Amino acid sequence: MLRLQLPLPQRYTAASDDDLADRIAAAKETLGDRVFILGHHYQRDDVMRWADARGDSFRLSVLARERPEADYIVFCGVHFMAESADILTADHQAVILPDLNAGCSMADMADLDQVEEAWDVLAQTTDIERVVPITYMNSSAAIKAFVGEHGGAVCTSTNAKAVVQWALDLGDYQGRGARGRQVLFFPDLHLGRNTGFQLGYGEADMRVWNPRLEHGGLNDSDCKESTFLLWRGHCSVHQRFRPEHIREFRAEHPDGIVIVHPECAREVCAQADNVGSTDYIINAVADAPKGSVISVGTEIHLVNRLNNETPDKTIVSLDPLVCPCSTMFRIDAPHLAWVLESLVDGRVVNQITVDRQTAEWASLALNRMLDIT
Ligand code: 13P
Ligand code: SF4
Repeated sequence: MLRLQLPLPQRYTAASDDDLADRIAAAKETLGDRVFILGHHYQRDDVMRWADARGDSFRLSVLARERPEADYIVFCGVHFMAESADILTADHQAVILPDLNAGCSMADMADLDQVEEAWDVLAQTTDIERVVPITYMNSSAAIKAFVGEHGGAVCTSTNAKAVVQWALDLGDYQGRGARGRQVLFFPDLHLGRNTGFQLGYGEADMRVWNPRLEHGGLNDSDCKESTFLLWRGHCSVHQRFRPEHIREFRAEHPDGIVIVHPECAREVCAQADNVGSTDYIINAVADAPKGSVISVGTEIHLVNRLNNETPDKTIVSLDPLVCPCSTMFRIDAPHLAWVLESLVDGRVVNQITVDRQTAEWASLALNRMLDIT
């Protein structure tokens, strides 16, 4: 998805780290309670140090909603998170993304046209009333709105099991019980598959819908018979973790603990000791016994921060050749200084707004999730 971030003026790009830190501190002080800075766990330290709240993708939006006195929510995260914050916050609150190019490659793998096309194809093949669309939080507001309008719900990596169970339990479709229902899950193939397995389903109950192929690459009976239609999307950061990384870690640390994010592939999650969202990973590290050696399969900035902030345990990345989330990494001190100093000058830059109709349907899908969990 093309989002145009104009280059920053030289007074930001050429500034030293100390100068930027002084300017961010001064702007923050001037703005006081009118600004609330949110930092997703994957942000780099020189951004995270300025965050008024840290959290996972969903918790941050809820925190923004609980701060009505903040006219400006500066979201140090990625585009879909800022959209969710705009949907959940009051009209007088402006949500700002410091770099418009901070997208999420996974969220971009399901666009509205493709999803509508898939829905039309399924409507010709199967009884579309059976199909419940479920979207992961990592999706555009337009996709969340589609889901809201078509009777489905949003899920996060923490509550995906409860949300998918809710979808399967929606009415006793033609006397066939839960298996009478079908779930169209997007955009993360792995979270969908991991959740299906958690609920006791197997590979035979799942088919992968490839939006690049005609008819999703499936035949009619695949579309009709499978309980799960999993959109072919993935996170390039989490897809790197492999079962051999777990084997190598366990060979070196037989008592070590492995914790991974559910965006990792099924064969990785199956061998891990714990699987959960970024908030879940943080809590699992805190709960581990002193002296533990813990291998974590998620974005490297969170892994390093956990290691630095937990001196009585050793926390390492599951993949020794780590790769950061390159879009999260776009948010840096120069962009943060720029948006804050612009606010001090009375200019709101990089505001993320979701149009009213999209926001209404999307918040229906978000609220269904909240009611379920
Ligand atoms: P969380 O919801 O766990 O913060 O995850 C967001 C994300 O983008 C993971 O890659
Ligand atoms: Fe998206 Fe993956 Fe980055 Fe999370 S880590 S924001 S899923 S690209």
